[in-house]
Amino acid sequence: MMNRFMMLLGLVIWCFVIELGFGVNGLKVPFRPKDLLPILPKELTTWPNLHSAVDLLPSFVGSIGPNSGSIEWKGACFYGNEARFEFKNSVQTDVNDHDEEEEEDKKKKKSLGGGVIYLETSAAHSWTCMDLYVFATPYRVTWDYYFSAREHTLEIDSWEESAELEYVKQHGISVFLMPSGMLGTLMSLIDVLPLFSNSAWGQKSNIAFLQKHMGASFERRAKPWVATINPDDVHSGDFLALSKIRGRWGGFETLEKWVTGAFAGHTAVCLKDEDGKLWVGESGHENEKGEEIIVVIPWEEWWELTLKDNSNPHVALLPLHPELRAKFNVTAAWAYAWSMSGKPYGYHNMIFSWIDTIADNYPPPLDTHLVISAMSMWTRVQPSYAANMWNEALNKRLGTEDLDLYEIIAETEKRGMTFDHLLTIPEQDEWVYSDGKSTTCVAFILEMYKEAGILGPLSSSIQIRDAYMLKIFESNHTRLPNWCNNGDKQLPFCQILGEYRMEFPHYNTIEPYAKMNENCPSLPPTYERPVSC
Ligand SMILES: *[C@@H]1O[C@H](CO)[C@@H](O)[C@H](O)[C@H]1NC(C)=O
Ligand SMILES: *[C@@H]1O[C@H](CO)[C@@H](O)[C@H](O)[C@H]1NC(C)=O
Repeated sequence: MMNRFMMLLGLVIWCFVIELGFGVNGLKVPFRPKDLLPILPKELTTWPNLHSAVDLLPSFVGSIGPNSGSIEWKGACFYGNEARFEFKNSVQTDVNDHDEEEEEDKKKKKSLGGGVIYLETSAAHSWTCMDLYVFATPYRVTWDYYFSAREHTLEIDSWEESAELEYVKQHGISVFLMPSGMLGTLMSLIDVLPLFSNSAWGQKSNIAFLQKHMGASFERRAKPWVATINPDDVHSGDFLALSKIRGRWGGFETLEKWVTGAFAGHTAVCLKDEDGKLWVGESGHENEKGEEIIVVIPWEEWWELTLKDNSNPHVALLPLHPELRAKFNVTAAWAYAWSMSGKPYGYHNMIFSWIDTIADNYPPPLDTHLVISAMSMWTRVQPSYAANMWNEALNKRLGTEDLDLYEIIAETEKRGMTFDHLLTIPEQDEWVYSDGKSTTCVAFILEMYKEAGILGPLSSSIQIRDAYMLKIFESNHTRLPNWCNNGDKQLPFCQILGEYRMEFPHYNTIEPYAKMNENCPSLPPTYERPVSC
């Protein structure tokens, strides 16, 4: 099943195109923008140099739903435009594929039916101009652009889930006219599309992307790829680093890894109770309702879910150094874990820790305009999520309350501050959001370490990469349990799942210090990190 929040987060930073072409029929890129590139006026492929952030916001032209009739508006290129929407009936198909789960999922989606957007363009003001549109629901974002004056159609093969169908029935699909400069950005993201495909080909794309952009090696391991662990050898505080390389989570993690320089995309922590039973504490665990929350669950349950996960997770256990293990206050760690259980996963922190990293020096094709465009679109499509996800966080940064995104932009400009600057104000630990303290997967673990008395104060902008670089783990690999790494003694940590050997450059090397990472620009492809930033 699709994880809506993952999509949402992906969208915030990664713009709108990632969903493009991944309808039910597998890969279907509707056109090849590169083929059109030579005839595009040059200025369209770069960012316009405008003075106000507001000039770059996508403009909302209206919503088209099954009952809303058609809408009309004036575009940037075509002065006469009209759009309407119709549902398409469900299609029953026979499937016989070996991957039953995947096929089951496809069948379910097909039975929901899809829809068609009709968009008629007329009265172009010049023969070289074009209009670029984004069509969004909370579940998908697609885009298209138009050169010629005629009726265009855009088909949605099938809804992601029944909730999307319901949403479209009630609210329709939001249509945004993009500033033409977006095109360059969109085209450079074409690379990224295959990462999200849940197929062998999608996995290959993820691997190739990480090899090319991060220098990852992906050496195959000898079988068995699944270790049988002995819980007696695992201790409270041992760190679990996960890396997913297939499907939507895989694509999402690949981009996250690329931005942050981490060779893992998710983390969890081990806890033992008085009876010696092993548990896992995890922030970012998906519950039945599809929400990401903090949980503490028995090891067996967690392991079973991990083995069933179709994102091909790789898992490494990073045991704490014996000296820290001896100092680890298990009572205090448990008290913290239970106090956090059921609370929401840290959206605010997550978004801003990414922005922190990228805003100083965005790796192309990312920049503030993209972030702000995504924010403004999301504000329109899902006002309540948007308020929760960043309006509140931006208000905290300004010291204001309840301003909406447009008011925030206005206030920022009034103060003579750039939006980039606003975004990079670091998150403060004492900020409390309306849904409680928000805690990312790795912040949850580091906070537990603090409670357990093995870490001093650290900045909240610490990310997965910084966590595994901390010098707090077992440094003598002869002391690793013998079920680690298939007996392969090369790794300094303990890989327990995965077909490729995991790697964590600079693992276990940096002594923790206060305010660590608050000012670290670390960017692809080398991620060089200034000492004590
Ligand atoms: C461990 O933490 C508990 C609860 O915070 C506290 O009462 C206890 O004194 C601590 N034990 C040690 C050895 O510090
Ligand atoms: C590593 O651990 C083994 C077994 O406990 C011990 O004999 C050896 O001296 C340790 N090596 C180092 C460098 O500490």
